[in-house]
Formats: sequence, C-alpha cells, structure tokens
Amino acid sequence: MCGIVGYNGKNKAVDILMDGLSKLEYRGYDSAGIAIFDKDIEIYKAKGKLVNLSEKLKDKDLNGTCGIGHTRWATHGEPSENNAHPHISNDGNVTLVHNGIIENYQELILKLENHKYKFYSETDTEVLTNIIDYYYKKYKLGPIDAINRTMVRVRGSYAIAVMFKEYPGEIWVARKDSPMIIGQNKDGVYVASDVPAILKYTKNVYYIGNMEAACLKKDKVIFYDLNGDVIQKELKRIKWDVSAAEKEGYEHFMIKEINEQPEVIKRTINSYVLDNKIDFSKCGLTRDKLKSYKQIYIVACGSAYHVGVCAQYVLEDLTRIPVRVEMASEFRYRKPILNKNGLVIIISQSGETADSLAALREAKNQGIDTLGIINVVGSSIAREADYVLYTLAGPEISVATTKAFSTQLIVSYLLAIEIASAKRKINKKVYNNLLKEMVLLPDKVQYILDNLTKDIQRIASKFSHIKDAFYIGRGLDYAISLEGSLKLKEVSYIHSEAYAAGELKHGTISLIEDNTLVVGIVTQNNIYEKSISNFVEVKSRGGYMLIIAPEDLNINKVSNHSLIIPNTINYFYPSLTVIPLQLISYYITVSKGLDVDKPRNLAKSVTVE
Ligand code: BG6
Repeated sequence: MCGIVGYNGKNKAVDILMDGLSKLEYRGYDSAGIAIFDKDIEIYKAKGKLVNLSEKLKDKDLNGTCGIGHTRWATHGEPSENNAHPHISNDGNVTLVHNGIIENYQELILKLENHKYKFYSETDTEVLTNIIDYYYKKYKLGPIDAINRTMVRVRGSYAIAVMFKEYPGEIWVARKDSPMIIGQNKDGVYVASDVPAILKYTKNVYYIGNMEAACLKKDKVIFYDLNGDVIQKELKRIKWDVSAAEKEGYEHFMIKEINEQPEVIKRTINSYVLDNKIDFSKCGLTRDKLKSYKQIYIVACGSAYHVGVCAQYVLEDLTRIPVRVEMASEFRYRKPILNKNGLVIIISQSGETADSLAALREAKNQGIDTLGIINVVGSSIAREADYVLYTLAGPEISVATTKAFSTQLIVSYLLAIEIASAKRKINKKVYNNLLKEMVLLPDKVQYILDNLTKDIQRIASKFSHIKDAFYIGRGLDYAISLEGSLKLKEVSYIHSEAYAAGELKHGTISLIEDNTLVVGIVTQNNIYEKSISNFVEVKSRGGYMLIIAPEDLNINKVSNHSLIIPNTINYFYPSLTVIPLQLISYYITVSKGLDVDKPRNLAKSVTVE
C-alpha cells in the first residue's frame, strides 16, 4: 500500500505535495518522489523515508503550481530510487504515480515489448505508464480515452494520478479498489489516498467511484465514466479536524491515539445510545432485521480480526446464535458455506483492506446480508456493504491500531446487546444494566491511563532485551491476549505468542524457562481459579508472570508484577485490559529506540493481496 497526492492550483505545488506525503507516510516509507509541472515536468525521487527526498529538494527552486507525489510500500521490486514513483513512459509523454497492484503486468510487458517499449524498473506500475502511452498514441483520442482503455485492459487495484506532456497543467486521475479522495478550495484542487493529506487545505471533498476518472484543472474537477461521458459528483463535507492528524505534543501518534481512547469510546457510545436506548436506525439496521439472523460471521484482518474473536464470546453468550470468526484472507478463497439467514460482519479501520473487501464481495455474491464496522467514512467497504456502523475514532495515523480497535469493541458490544434484546434473549432490566455499565467505560479507561502508565513505563524498560514473550488467558481474556501479543510483535519486533491458558500444558509450556515474560490476563470471575492455576504452573517453571486483573480478583500470590484495573462486567473487560497491553508494547518499543509509528515492513492497511 502506498500514498499518492496531487495538487493543481494557484500555490507552489512542492510544499503541498511534501506536506501531504508526510501525512501519508504511514501507508509506506520505502521511497518517495514528486513530479512538478512548471515549464516542463521535473521529477525528483529518493529511496527510504520522506526526509531523504526533502534533503534532495532543499536547494531546488520549484515554482510549478501543478504536481503529483508518492510514498511507496514496496510490493513489486525492492525499495530503490529506480523503482520509486513517479514513473515515466519511454518518451516521457506520461508521468504517473500509483497505489495498488497490477496483477496482469507480466502479460502486458510482453505485449508492450512487442511494440518496442523498454522497461527500466521492476515495478508493475511502469507497465501502467506505458500502456496508457500506448493507447494514447494508438487511438489519438486524448487522455480520458487512453485511461479508460487502460482500465478495461489491466487487472488489479489502482489509484493513479497522471500528467501528460501534451496536456500541461492538468492532472488526470482514476481508481479501482484503491482509495482516492479529491478535495477543492479557492486555491485549487487536491487529490490524495487518504483524508489527512488534504485536511489542512479543505474539508470539501468528492468521492470518486470505482472505474471512474477525472481531470483536475486549477479551478474545477471534471468526472468521467468508463464510456468517457462527463458525470456529476456532489461535494461532501468531512467532519474531522486538522489537529486530529497532528501529534499535539505527544512523542508518537501511537501514544497520542492511546490517550484519545476515553474520548473516542464516549463519542462512539453517544452516537448509538440515546436515552438509554441503542439506535442503529442511521444505518437502516432495524430490530426486526437483527431478530431474523440465525448465524453471524465476523470476517477481518490483523487487529480487527481480534475484535471479532472478542465479539464472538459476547455475541454468542448474549444472543445464543452461532458466531464464526474468519480471517478474511482465508475466507475469500475457502468457498465458505454461509447460512442464507446469516449476517456477515466485516470489521476494518481503513475500510480498504483488500482481503476484507474481497470477503465482503464473496458474501454479497452469495446473497448474504453484510454489515461493515468501519472507521473511515466513504471507504470502499463502507460504500459496498449493505449496512455500515461507523466507529468514531477519527483519523488513526500510527500503523499499529489502538483507538480504532477500542471503538470497534464498543460497536460489537452494542450490536450483541441489540440483537439479544430484539430476540428477547435479555429483558429490559439486563439491557439497561449493560448500557449503564458501558457508559462508565471511558472513565475507567482514563483511570488506567492516569494510574498505570508510569508503572508500565518503568517495568517495560526491563524487557527491552527479551527475544520471546507469551500472553495467556481464558475465554475473553484469551481473545484479548491475541491482540496484546500482536501489538508487541508489530512495533517491538519481539517474537510473541498468545495462548489459551488451558492449552499451555499440551506443549508450549516447554518453552517457559527462567524469566520468560508471560503476560497473564484474568478478569472472567467464572473461570478465575482455572486461570490462576495455569499462572502458577508457568511460575513454577521460572516464568515471570506480569498479570493484568481487576481489583476484585486476588492475584498477588502468583504475580511477579500486577497491573490492577477497575472492575466492570465480564463482557466489557477487553476494553480495559487492552489499554495496559497497548502501553506495554509502546514502552518496550520506545525503550528499544524503534520507530513506533512506522514499524518495519508494515503499513496502515494493506490494499493489495
Ligand atoms: C494492518 C494494520 O495492515 O491491517 C493493522 O497494520 C490492522 O493495524 C490490519 O489491524 C487490518 O486493517 P483494517 O484497516 O482492515 O482494520
């Protein structure tokens, strides 16, 4: 996944492009590049993080007011200047930046080589540049015809911004499956892969559809469909504010976003709970509809999948209907047998993760109702799902998700309570008590941030040298330990495994030796003793038990270090236990001096397979 940005207007494009790219670097940081149109198209590229490109541009006097830019997450071809975007066609007629993957690029290279095209990079993107040039020269019907023919001919995902030598001062864009947003204000027109890149300049945006294209002139945008006919688009207003995309004094976006959780949890609850009643009418999900579902499937990737594992426990226990949780990359190719009276829930922060989008389409192809629990408004999954429940986490910049995860948990709880109530599995009293306890969660999260952060920061530095760690728990505690383990792996590069505590003695306990870090989570009072005896087994093998538990459960005898969190009801504990788990990962990573917000080899959401 990469980040593309473009500007055409009155102001110097270089500043707007570099600023936009700095807001998109969480999408990939293997190389960066820009192309500025002044008297001619000038291209500058650099390997590695954006700072390397800034270095190159330092003494350049670029006055052009039209340009495109790119920050890369390498898929085809190693991180290098040669493979960096923008790419140009053989004679420089076409200059292009691309986010996505062209699946049939090898076949197209053969076709183009038969037409004397030569290739200088290992990328699939260079093929796009030359195939557009090929159609442009063959049919001589201008940019939109060349782009539309290309969209018909290539397979894969793409968001592209293109400049044609013979159409100076214009930017042409098109997309299929990869995200793109177009903004406008009195100073010009902006295009980007994601909102944070243009939020500083405008909140007025257009959403361009799949297989649609547009021409960005200095003061207007012209949209085209695949037949080349002009189509109208409505300008929409974004609710997020600029500061949401800034660090606001925090050292990293991750710790800023961890500290935003009380606010975003409250915001998400308030957007669905009115007068102690859950209201999903905004997305058209009626109680009758919810009542009708006989089976639920939750499909997602990464941390969103872990929300699904937590939600499974709560949904099944409250609604008494079967819930299956699936990894999207497996679900999409497994030809799943789905119950016609089922509901497929896709959980995704970005709403653009390719495997999750494909899983959604698989469910729709089978005629199953689909619900997206999504954070990015107007994203592909949000637009294609039958129903959407937005999480209100705001823009999440750090690659490792934290606040979006917490808001996805909240929406999952609300869904479970509403389905259980619609199916009369719980009465009004239970319904009210669940909501009464839920609205207390933001303050309990704040309590944990205020009272445990320092302690965790202190002990985390003790573990900056470790090679392995284990996370164990039972039931919902096992579900959330999956997320704790992934968080540590994602940002600290320490190998870590999460295990159902009861499973440990069937093999993995052989890995426990003196001072092996084992993070134990115990909150579920109905299986408390079982968990404690597993912790004792680990400790007797020399393991260092770092235990997270609520005040009312006594763990002091078995823990080497205790992290005590406020009490709540069993269903909601993942919302509290995940906070110390996030902080442990963050502070261990900081103590290792690693780049917390942009961990190696990762990207915020993977829009390619
Ligand atoms: C990964 C992110 O690329 O994608 C994870 O690093 C995320 O944090 C996963 O959980 C799924 O992304 P999304 O946007 O579908 O929730």
